[in-house]
Amino acid sequence: MIQLTVNGAKRSFDGDPDMPLLWYLRDELGLTGTKFGCGQALCGACTIHLGGTATRACVTPLSAAEGQEIVTIEGLSPDGNHPVQAAWRDLNVAQCGYCQCGQIMQAASLLKDTPKPTDAQIDEGMSGNICRCGTYPRIRAAIHQAAGQAPATNTGERL
Ligand code: FES
Ligand code: FES
Repeated sequence: MIQLTVNGAKRSFDGDPDMPLLWYLRDELGLTGTKFGCGQALCGACTIHLGGTATRACVTPLSAAEGQEIVTIEGLSPDGNHPVQAAWRDLNVAQCGYCQCGQIMQAASLLKDTPKPTDAQIDEGMSGNICRCGTYPRIRAAIHQAAGQAPATNTGERL
């Protein structure tokens, strides 16, 4: 029996401990904000926080979540007003939206570890999160806004 906490709620699971955490979140708990993209830790669509660290749920077996605190996009803030979420809305970051929950979870983790990131730190911290729509300039701007700082550079990029 695996015991874990998901978005503040105690959970237990007595199924296959090798099942990816992503399947548990989506199929067992109905938390479908966390997306399946590649299944191989290559795209970041499935990013959640495990023990406070951005983690790819697609390659994380449930056994690795034993005793851990999991936070998904649904639990990032009680009202959708985490500074990253607010900045994402202000700057209309999303295009198709598919990658964006993972992007937001990765960005929130980045800002926890690096509250005032440079462009280079943002690019490095977000490099594992792929956006097929190419929203990278808006993602970078929104992270700067969430950090309470003006963009370090104006690239002039427009989408
Ligand atoms: S679905 Fe997990 S990294 Fe792509
Ligand atoms: S907004 Fe479409 S994949 Fe990122």
